[in-house]
Amino acid sequence: MAQENAAIITIKGKDYDLPMLSPTAGPDVVDIRKLYGQADVFTFDPGFTSTAACESAITFIDGDKGELWYRGYPIEQLADQSHFLEVCYLLLYGELPDKAMLEDFENRVTRHTMVHEQMHNFFRGFRRDAHPMATMVGVVGAMSAFYHDSTDINDEWQREVAAIRLIAKLPTIAAMAYKYSIGQPFVYPQNDLDYASNFLNMCFSVPAEKYKVDPALSKAMDRIFTLHADHEQNASTSTVRLAGSSGANPFACIAAGIACLWGPAHGGANQAALEMLKEIGTVDRIPEYIARAKDKSDPFKLMGFGHRVYKNFDPRAKVMKESADEVLDLLGIHNNPTLQVAKELEKIALEDDYFIEKKLYPNVDFYSGIILSAMGFPTSMFTPIFALSRTVGWIAQWKEMIGDPQTKIGRPRQLYVGPKRRDYVPVKSR
Ligand code: CMC
Repeated sequence: MAQENAAIITIKGKDYDLPMLSPTAGPDVVDIRKLYGQADVFTFDPGFTSTAACESAITFIDGDKGELWYRGYPIEQLADQSHFLEVCYLLLYGELPDKAMLEDFENRVTRHTMVHEQMHNFFRGFRRDAHPMATMVGVVGAMSAFYHDSTDINDEWQREVAAIRLIAKLPTIAAMAYKYSIGQPFVYPQNDLDYASNFLNMCFSVPAEKYKVDPALSKAMDRIFTLHADHEQNASTSTVRLAGSSGANPFACIAAGIACLWGPAHGGANQAALEMLKEIGTVDRIPEYIARAKDKSDPFKLMGFGHRVYKNFDPRAKVMKESADEVLDLLGIHNNPTLQVAKELEKIALEDDYFIEKKLYPNVDFYSGIILSAMGFPTSMFTPIFALSRTVGWIAQWKEMIGDPQTKIGRPRQLYVGPKRRDYVPVKSR
């Protein structure tokens, strides 16, 4: 008899009971782990549209309601009331810290912000016109060559040190990639500045004159970090987990995540979205681009629109849109043409049947570029900023995976459609 909480699958006339797993929130999960052993079949799910690849207690998304929680806390509350380093603590350790715990954590991160001096030489091996993401993939991967004392994944203390080092050094590395690309000297971190102000200072100050970080801009930067901090099992996080499942060291895994994030369907969309808005240029050209996005023979997509999970508004985009208005106001940028195009494009797309039917809404990348651009960042820095913010999510997910006794090396199977077995023919007989 079938168990009450089980799914039944009939394969070639035989029934198999599959256990159902109940999550804290979200849909039930059919456990197919034993299916291959029992029924000699695989399941087919390219793009993992229906597959839960792991158990996780970190982040939850309800795509239909447009909700995102970190450890149960809604993103809107965290973006409004918390700050990035507290969010890092929450993601890494599961609970909000008390005052002493937070101070200790902030102190630990702050004491690790410098990079090994020899890494400066490593940077200098890159071409100046390299995309900062290319430099970051290389430099973060190279961290395993500089920090040998935190690469043993079986040592809990080393895992902890690696996590802190990554969170602390990624802003330094991203800022160095930027400075290198514009031919300015590297700016060392300043430990009396908060996390976001320190990043802005490393990007925008020069030795020749003093730079004062505007606290309101630093707050906006911090909020951008918070909004990007984690997003459950997205492509780059799954890449980090897959790389880590083989026992690779954390720096190598995060470098793999950065490489995956770079793609325009993922984190690279923030750069692509702003470039698209600039290309559209004026509100009257929007219909032309909407028509292209709907044309199946045209590969063009509205960048910053659509999401695999959100079939309602992306809650991060809502906060980001408010922030964009605030930052432009703060900087005295009125009638910004890019923002005007963005707002009108959003309005027109949301009223269009194609976008309504396919449930395509603006995602986090739609508005972030407008803020970053107003702050003075070139488009090539948008994805590095996403990467430095997401590092805490990647490392929290990696640590969770290493500590999970169910973890096995990730090893998908396939539906083979190649030739059947055949015999080799020597070249003279072909
Ligand atoms: N513009 C026009 N049509 C779109 C778009 C878009 N931005 N996004 C999806 N569609 C269409 C798509 O052509 C498909 O149509 P059909 O059913 O007729 O074949 C349908 O909507 C479903 O799209 P999909 O590509 O099958 O959906 P997916 O879940 O595989 O892809 C996505 C999600 C985010 C990759 C995709 O929406 C996209 O490429 N968007 C633009 C890039 C972007 O903004 N990415 C950032 C995502 S959020 C941040 C992050 O992950 O880093």
